Amino acid sequence: MNQRQIFDNGEKPMARLLKEYVDGMSLERDFYTSEVIYNNDIRHYWNSSWIWVGHVSQVPNTGDFFLFDYGTESLIIARDKQGEIGVFLNVCRHRGSRVCMEQRGNRRVFACPYHAWTYELNGDLRVAREMGEGFDPTEYSLLKAHVRIFEGMIFACTAKSPPDIEAGLEKLAPLVEPFDFNNLKIAHSASYPVPANWKLAVENYMECYHCAPSHKDYARSHSIKDPEYLRTELTEAMKDRSRAVGLSTDEVSVSSDAEGKTDMDFYHRRYPLFEGYLTGSKSGEPLAPLLGNLKGFDGGTTDLQIGILNNFLVYSDHVVGYRFIPRSVQETDIEVIWFVRGDAEAGKDYDLQDLTWLWDVTSQDDERIIRLNQEGVNSFHYIPGPLSHMEWGIRAFYDGYLAKAALW
Ligand code: FES
Ligand SMILES: [Fe+2]
Repeated sequence: MNQRQIFDNGEKPMARLLKEYVDGMSLERDFYTSEVIYNNDIRHYWNSSWIWVGHVSQVPNTGDFFLFDYGTESLIIARDKQGEIGVFLNVCRHRGSRVCMEQRGNRRVFACPYHAWTYELNGDLRVAREMGEGFDPTEYSLLKAHVRIFEGMIFACTAKSPPDIEAGLEKLAPLVEPFDFNNLKIAHSASYPVPANWKLAVENYMECYHCAPSHKDYARSHSIKDPEYLRTELTEAMKDRSRAVGLSTDEVSVSSDAEGKTDMDFYHRRYPLFEGYLTGSKSGEPLAPLLGNLKGFDGGTTDLQIGILNNFLVYSDHVVGYRFIPRSVQETDIEVIWFVRGDAEAGKDYDLQDLTWLWDVTSQDDERIIRLNQEGVNSFHYIPGPLSHMEWGIRAFYDGYLAKAALW
């Protein structure tokens, strides 16, 4: 084996990939196959993005906690004695062991399984045995992530200086407020593992070009499959109904740009379901009690994005949260979380099968098309292809992603 075979695995350096990138085309193969790029994705993209980790209803009491893992990282989300929700890196400050292995539960402290360093619920180090005189425990708290709780949704960012989330949230707050996200509960969560790079899963979510051919059930009830509907009477009629039930019809669209002036994307648009559909159900009939202060069903649903990685669909009676969690270079979990009003009871106020039907079948469709996408991209004959104007969301994702990649 010569030097070249040992050291050259055929991947291009990022500088060359960026130089060869053509605006309006899909990305090169290496972005979806390279371990080097994957590691940088976690280290520089995920670890410097705001990530939706959960909802306040998951930690109602002091000591309640859950883990949120992605890539190489694990976060502990816990409610401390003061009632504050904190997010910590699940990495012991002694020699780096995972501190907590349980996925969720209630604790008085977090004790590391290795040498029993013990941390308070707020991440502070309480006890470390046999560490000698000069040891100062205050220097060894668990590393803290930034936390922002928006209408009950918990976001965390592990970067030293996180992207500006406030400007976007300020715009979204009055639009989201009528749904009372603070008062939601998780009705169901499901994970759809897909053997593909996380970027292909995100890209799939960013466009509805595939909706008509790939999502028969979704396309039957949701007008966004067809862009011309967005400009027609269907939308105007829905807007009248939206206003009547107490919803704003304002739209928000903030895209991160190639110049890096805005480093986070926000999106909010309510769009109409087809006639006969009050919500995302098989029959068109309601699935659960109306959310928040809504006075009725407007027959619409909201696409809500708080950063490219955090997506929500907001129907009048339930919310579906979507995220695409990297596990390895070609392993991603599509995670779907269904929320209903906090006081709704399963079996009485909603039927779990009916509630989850649409986004369960849709996610199964997505698993298949994303898997096939990766299989094709793995071919050495794959070359980037042109994006449709309906895939503008992918361009927005690339702009933000490539601007960050240029700084690695
Ligand atoms: S690694 Fe945690 S106590 Fe040693
Ligand atoms: Fe899809």
